[in-house]
Order: sequence, then C-alpha cells, then structure tokens
Amino acid sequence: MRRGAFPQFTDRGFVALGAPRNAAIPANADSKYFDLGLCGPLRTDLAAHTGYCGMFKTPTLRNVATRSVFFHNGVFETLEQVVRFYQQRDVHPELFYPRARNAGAAKFDDIPAAYRANVAFDAPFDSAAAAKPRFTDADAADIIAFLRTLTDAGVVRAPRE
Ligand code: HEM
Repeated sequence: MRRGAFPQFTDRGFVALGAPRNAAIPANADSKYFDLGLCGPLRTDLAAHTGYCGMFKTPTLRNVATRSVFFHNGVFETLEQVVRFYQQRDVHPELFYPRARNAGAAKFDDIPAAYRANVAFDAPFDSAAAAKPRFTDADAADIIAFLRTLTDAGVVRAPRE
C-alpha cells in the first residue's frame, strides 16, 4: 500500500466461506444452479480450476456498516448476522443451513458437494472440535462496534432496494 494512503481494510484474498444459499435470488429457484465465483458460471476463464470453486473476493470493510446486504449473494442483512456466522458456522450450522433429513445441518448448501472441501476453516471458524465458538457474544458486540468505526465521515447507510 502506498505510504500515507487510506487503509483498504481487505487483503484482497479469494476465499470460500460457504455462505448459505439465498432463496431470494431468482436464479436459485433452479436447485442445480450455483454461483461459484471464481470458477463460474459468470466468470469463465478459471472454469477448469475446480479448486477455486466457491471462492469470492474478500471485500473491503471500509464503510461496511453502511451496507444493507452482505456477502456475494446478499444472504445476510445485518452485521450482527455476519459476525454470528463467523462465530457459529461450525458449532451450530443449523442456524444457517437447512437440515438434511436424519443428518443434522447440510453445511455449505450453496456449493455442490464436490467442491465443499474448498471451504476455509481458518480461525475464527473450525471451532467445532472445541464444541464452542472461538469468541463470545461480548466479543461479537466489540467486533461489531469496531466495524462501525470504519465508516468515513459523510457516508450514509445504503437503503434496501
Ligand atoms: C471475526 C473475523 C472476521 C470478521 C469480523 C469479518 C468480517 C466480514 C464482513 C463484515 C464481511 C461482509 C462484507 C460485505 O459483504 O460487504 C466479510 C466478508 C468476507 N470475509 Fe470476513 N471477517 C472475518 C474473518 C474472515 C476470515 C478468517 C476470512 C478468510 C479466511 C474472511 C474472508 C472473507 C471473504 C472471502 C468475504 C466475502 C464473502 C462472500 O462474498 O461470500 N473473513 N467479512
């Protein structure tokens, strides 16, 4: 980053977080349709690189508190929902994914089973082994308070369409 430049608040990495499927997206009415980010179908140049399927660019967190939808498919509408996903995805996946019959929560329901191994388990994920989240509800409130400090002066909250 250029010295003195404003911070970007992103590492510009491409990562699969396994965001829940968003039923409000018309294309998702087709259960065989999946937006897999880097490997398509909208992007075509990396279609053969299946290790990239499900990966999306980490967006800047600058002004994140002014957004009304979060993640590539807009499945979450509040920062509270997003931070809860990071806290609970691997401990209580049933909070985010529909239950598969007799099999608990079907995790990563917006990625075909063949590509689910691409999903990241970096901290704060992968808390299932400890059977408890890596951060507390009080920590979550602190994280949200911090995210709210990343808003530039004069930037107003985007209205929901
Ligand atoms: C507690 C730690 C974290 C917090 C508070 C956090 C916060 C956020 C927020 C608020 C968003 C939504 C931004 C938007 O849609 O405008 C986001 C998206 C994203 N974050 Fe994180 N993040 C954390 C950890 C991580 C980690 C560990 C990774 C990578 C392994 C990561 C990668 C991403 C990616 C790829 C997206 C975009 C996902 C998509 O569009 O589907 N984040 N993060």
